[in-house]
This record gives sequence, C-alpha cells and structure tokens, in this order.
Amino acid sequence: MRSIDAAELPERIRLDDDLLIHADNAEVLPRLDGGMFDLIYIDPPFNTGRAQTRTQIAVAPDPAGDRAGFAGRRYTTTALAGRAYADVFDDYLGFIAPRLREAHRLLASNGTLYFHIDYREAHYCKILLDEIFGRECFINEIIWAYDYGGRTKRRWPAKHDTILVYVRDPAAYHFDCAEVDREPYMAPGLQTPERAAAGKLPVDVWWHTIVPTSGSEKTGYPTQKPEGIVRRMVAASSRREGWCLDFFAGSGTLGAVAAALGRRFVLVDSSPDAIATCRTRLRALMEPADAPMEPSDALIEPSDPLAEPAERMQPTA
Ligand SMILES: C[S@@+](CC[C@H](N)C(=O)[O-])C[C@H]1O[C@@H](n2cnc3c(N)ncnc32)[C@H](O)[C@@H]1O
Repeated sequence: MRSIDAAELPERIRLDDDLLIHADNAEVLPRLDGGMFDLIYIDPPFNTGRAQTRTQIAVAPDPAGDRAGFAGRRYTTTALAGRAYADVFDDYLGFIAPRLREAHRLLASNGTLYFHIDYREAHYCKILLDEIFGRECFINEIIWAYDYGGRTKRRWPAKHDTILVYVRDPAAYHFDCAEVDREPYMAPGLQTPERAAAGKLPVDVWWHTIVPTSGSEKTGYPTQKPEGIVRRMVAASSRREGWCLDFFAGSGTLGAVAAALGRRFVLVDSSPDAIATCRTRLRALMEPADAPMEPSDALIEPSDPLAEPAERMQPTA
C-alpha cells in the first residue's frame, strides 16, 4: 500500500498500488484517470448539523467504580483521546455535487456507485444523482436497517440509512449475485431442504447490526460502517483485481473489505485521524504480524440529533 500526502499530490495519480491519500478529495479526484473504477462507495458526512465524535474509554475492574458489569462487578472508566470530524454544511448539495460529477467520470463503463446517506439529505441527493447520471442509471435504493441507540417518543425513531445505487451504463454494468452472502429463510420449513440450506438472496432492505462495540472490526472511528454491508456491494459489483474507490474513507472499511476480497483500492480522507486509523487497520490486515493493537471499546452517540440521550443499548439486529 502506498501513502500520499496533500503536500506531495502529483499532477496525475498512478494506480500502481493500493493507495491511501490524505487530502481534500476535491484536490484528489481530478488527478485520477477517468473510467478506472469498478466500484465507488462513499459515505460522506450526512450534514447532521454537529460534529461527529467518538469518545474512547478504557475500563478497569474497581469495586468502587462508576460502571456496573455482570454479576455485580464494577469498573472505573477513563476517557481516552476522542476522534471527531465536522458535519455542518450551509450548502450541502453545493459541497457534494462536484464530487459526484467526478465519481461519474471515474467509473468504468461496467462501474457502480453506492452512495450512503441518511433520511435528511437522501431525497435531495437522489434528484442530484438523477441529473448527473441520468434516471435510467438509477438501479436501487437500498435501506440498511439497524436497531441501536436512543428512541425518541416524539415520532418514529429513525433506524435506517439509505444507499442510492447508480451505474455508469445500464446495459453494461457488472452485478454478480452469486458472489453475495445469502440469508436464512424466515420459514425454512416451507422450502425444500436444499433451498433452506442454501438460504435466499438478499433484497433491497438489509437488516444488519452496526459495528459491534466489542467486535474485532471496531476501530473507534466515529460513524464507522460495518464490513458486512460493504462486503455485499464489493462482492456483487466489482471483479477480482478490479479497482474500488472510497473518497470519504473514514476508518477504511472499503479498503479492508476490498483487500479481503482480492480487489485493489484507493482511499481518500482529509482527516489525519481517519488516515491514522486506516493505516493501522489495513496494516493489521495486510501485514498482520507487525500491527499494533487499537484501544478496544467506544461509546456511541446516536447519529440523530432529535433522539433522546443514548441509552447505551446493545445492538439487537
Ligand atoms: C461518515 S465518515 C466515513 C466513514 C467510513 N465509511 C467508515 O466506515 O469508517 C465521513 C468521512 O469523510 C471525511 N471527509 C469529509 N470531508 C472530506 C473531504 N472534503 N475530503 C476528504 N474526506 C472528507 C471525514 O473526515 C470522515 O472521515
């Protein structure tokens, strides 16, 4: 994996190795050759109107501690350094539109864009994407449904994100559903034993837990997305050795999945915390023996500013 910093961005960025680029994506995208990517996954800031933060904590056994555990045990918690990025835009569409135009240019003729957003901006972004790609290139609206965090009692608690899927060419795009993990049937007894054992193909509503608090993929980066949902996109919409791009990379979920599935990747992020997290995570995957361990646990703030204070619930999905 090759790293490039904003100060050393070349005029043309060569795709000769997996790349981790620390820079504003507006500076990076025009320097990449067009038509190179099988898949672009982006999960930009959602314009929630506040900074996205994640406070990491260390927990130690202590009979007088502030935190209750199983079987009456108690623990003290100490706050470690937090990670954060800004998520407030006066003109969100003005920010995202030029980047989406670049995404369209960068996709190969068989390529697919997965655009991850939430209910506040999804409809405006859909209209913008229709303009840039053409309505005939819209393939799916995927709903990622989860169950985590506080529940407001003033309206239906929002527990889903939207992933808009557009292709460069509706007659030529790559989609291989045989590569995708299958789900258990709800009533397997109504299927033949063979069908029940094989499971069913996922539809456009994906029930999937958020990144589990104590799971091995947890990095502590705010708004990290689970590998399970990104794996489906990469498996279905890119080919082995094909190039995948995430220019709002965060903790590097797309890179981790691409590396595991034998795809090449380019990750871009403007935050030094994100780049440090990606580097640690990807080194652990690609050079496991040398990798330092990350602090393990984090408290999650709800992404919904109208939600009641987090109840620190465990995911149930
Ligand atoms: C929602 S997070 C992405 C999380 C990621 N999908 C993951 O699984 O960890 C959005 C990221 O976009 C980055 N970002 C925001 N504006 C950017 C810009 N102009 N150029 C590059 N990165 C940017 C932020 O630093 C943040 O890491």
